[in-house]
Amino acid sequence: MAILPIIKGENTEVLRAVAAPVSQVTKEVIKLIKNMEETVKNAEGLGLAAPQIGQSVRVCLVMLYGKMTPMINPEILWKSEETSVMTEGCLSLPKIEVDVERPVEVTIKYTDKKGQEQERRLHDLDAKVMQHELDHLNGVLIVDYT
Ligand code: NI
Repeated sequence: MAILPIIKGENTEVLRAVAAPVSQVTKEVIKLIKNMEETVKNAEGLGLAAPQIGQSVRVCLVMLYGKMTPMINPEILWKSEETSVMTEGCLSLPKIEVDVERPVEVTIKYTDKKGQEQERRLHDLDAKVMQHELDHLNGVLIVDYT
């Protein structure tokens, strides 16, 4: 396992690309997840997306109920009409904080690291972090909400 450097800068190409779907949970994907877990723990983040360590694939980690949860090919199936504004930061944009308005509740699906599809309803901070990480997989950063 390894702690990897986090890519920074709002105009960095890999952070602005739409990441590619993962077709199969291979050993390489598992290794990527392990490295991301080490990296986000070291950085004391609530989440991390693969493009932030230079891999343009649809894999992210989201802290859910205190547990860092890997998500492969995450998607939002439903979002609440109710939104709220939260001040967000990003490991790729040090010292920048942006008030971001997002739905307070989402239903999501993703593939877990065993290759099984999961569906979950997320609320509040969990929902916000997941949406922030999903944005990374679509090349969207918090500065785009200003
Ligand atoms: Ni971020």
